[in-house]
Amino acid sequence: MCGIVGYVGGRSALDVVISGLRRLEYRGYDSAGVAVLADGGLASVKKAGKLANLEKALDEHPVPAGPAGIGHTRWATHGAPNDVNAHPHLDSAGRVALVHNGIIENFAQLRAELEERGRHLSSETDTEVVSHLLAEAFSSCADLAEAMRQVCRRLEGAFTLVAVHADEPDLVVGARRNSPLVVGIGDGEAFLASDVAAFIEHTREAVELGQDQVVELRRDGVLVTGFDGVPAEDVRAYHVDWDVSAAEKAGYDYFMLKEIAEQPRAVADTLLGRIGSDGALSLDEVRIPAAQLREVDKIVVVACGTAYHAGMIAKYAIEHWTRIPCETELASEFRYRDPILDGRTLVVAISQSGETMDTLMALRHAREQGAKVLAVCNTNGSTIPRESDAVLYTHAGPEVAVASTKAFLTQLVACYLVALYLGQVRGTQWGDEIATVIRELADIAGAVEDVLGTMEPVRELARGLAGKNTVLFLGRHVGYPVALEGALKLKELAYMHAEGFAAGELKHGPIALIEEDVPVVVVVPPPRGRSVLHDKIASNIQEIRARGARTIVIAERGDEAVRAYADHLIEVPPTPTLLQPMVATVPLQVFACELATARGNEVDQPRNLAKSVTVE
Ligand code: M6R
Repeated sequence: MCGIVGYVGGRSALDVVISGLRRLEYRGYDSAGVAVLADGGLASVKKAGKLANLEKALDEHPVPAGPAGIGHTRWATHGAPNDVNAHPHLDSAGRVALVHNGIIENFAQLRAELEERGRHLSSETDTEVVSHLLAEAFSSCADLAEAMRQVCRRLEGAFTLVAVHADEPDLVVGARRNSPLVVGIGDGEAFLASDVAAFIEHTREAVELGQDQVVELRRDGVLVTGFDGVPAEDVRAYHVDWDVSAAEKAGYDYFMLKEIAEQPRAVADTLLGRIGSDGALSLDEVRIPAAQLREVDKIVVVACGTAYHAGMIAKYAIEHWTRIPCETELASEFRYRDPILDGRTLVVAISQSGETMDTLMALRHAREQGAKVLAVCNTNGSTIPRESDAVLYTHAGPEVAVASTKAFLTQLVACYLVALYLGQVRGTQWGDEIATVIRELADIAGAVEDVLGTMEPVRELARGLAGKNTVLFLGRHVGYPVALEGALKLKELAYMHAEGFAAGELKHGPIALIEEDVPVVVVVPPPRGRSVLHDKIASNIQEIRARGARTIVIAERGDEAVRAYADHLIEVPPTPTLLQPMVATVPLQVFACELATARGNEVDQPRNLAKSVTVE
């Protein structure tokens, strides 16, 4: 939540910061602002609403070109999304400018202290207190980095802070606790951002900042210290393996459409390099020793939102292939119920961004209790993999649209790999059995491509439903999380009442929601193999149709048994039951995207949301 950019170097800081903010707008779009150091002073402009409003304000009130600057795009926590609460926040003298991502939990007490000392604060934010504290600390030490360290030692909560001071015109200082911040190293220039996407067009050389570290950015290099002032020893530099084209729309109207289309490639990439020369699965990044994995007697998957739905599907695969009991839990609930964990528990934390605070807190709790944590993550160098015992990266490439699509499919691939790997290590799966599933997984990229080629009727159907208020989703077994995912996509994009149910639960209450012409999407499992599942859901379709529902049935191509009960039939290619979510979810993504467009909603930036949820 909130996107932050900082720059120092030979270019126009304002241009670099604005183009960085453009790439980070997915993180928050309630307001935006910049501050630039120039001509011995500091110029700042900020505006409520999207970045376009800020750009317009800058056209009307240009700021001078300068070598150092900072910028912010906000997802509001404390204080309404208006001009005053927008970042940067300046001190009373207008010499310090500061941007912030996160929440300062002790801000009320700090604000009271400042007000007692006669300081006037003009916004409702937690951030403004920090700019005043920073100005006070600077006035006694005349060193912005030292002032930042002193202030950070007083702050509680989660924060990324980036600041400039008019007295230090070639310096940008950043600090990080529990929120993301990466450094980009260029030739005679340096960048700071919440996400490498902000500076990828200038450099692909990045440095991860650790927990409780302060970084000083100058043209000739960066210096990282702890909040205690001791130079950091664990500074990890890395090369970003995707380029600027991956962070652009490539001709699509929305990032979401591009990301839906990228799914076959992303799925194939996530499988790449996972099979050793002996045909066995080799997950290099899973550095938990095989002996420890053999000892595991319980698996808990923790995640939020779409990643949680991937985790729900993972449970079916893990239990089926490893015979280890597995629970999937919302990360936001996990630590509050005092879960029973020990050294034989494996916690799998799934997160696209690697920064979701609820998931991070769940994994920290798990590790404190002695459990091992394996992260499934898409973002190299992010906090969740850094703090886990092992990581399996999905190779989806950057996901910019707030609605998660390709991350979900690649999380599924990664979860299937984890399940198979555990089965291999523990001997519950033979090599030929694993090889069969891997071949089936390898075929999925083509199957997703096939689905994508048949989506026009789905788009047409979505447009026809744009005036509806409610859409319900039903599924059984792995189709149940698919139903939940379809409903989530519709809620977040189309702002419609959408609910997913386990089809068997319908008769225990939700069937009362069915009335004439209510659209109900039903995910039908493949008829082969688990025919009992298929037959049960065929009956459920008849039950709702008898009560007037308009049935939208997602079924395997050639499944004639359900055709007669489908008002609209969406056919997907044959897959094994456990892998069907990878094809059945795709029409639901397209459906939600088209419905949102038809209703005139912003597809990539739905209201009230942000891509990366870095507050609890
Ligand atoms: O970055 P994460 O995977 O941890 O994010 C988790 C959820 O916030 C995310 O999946 C969210 O539900 C999506 N916007 C749904 O499309």
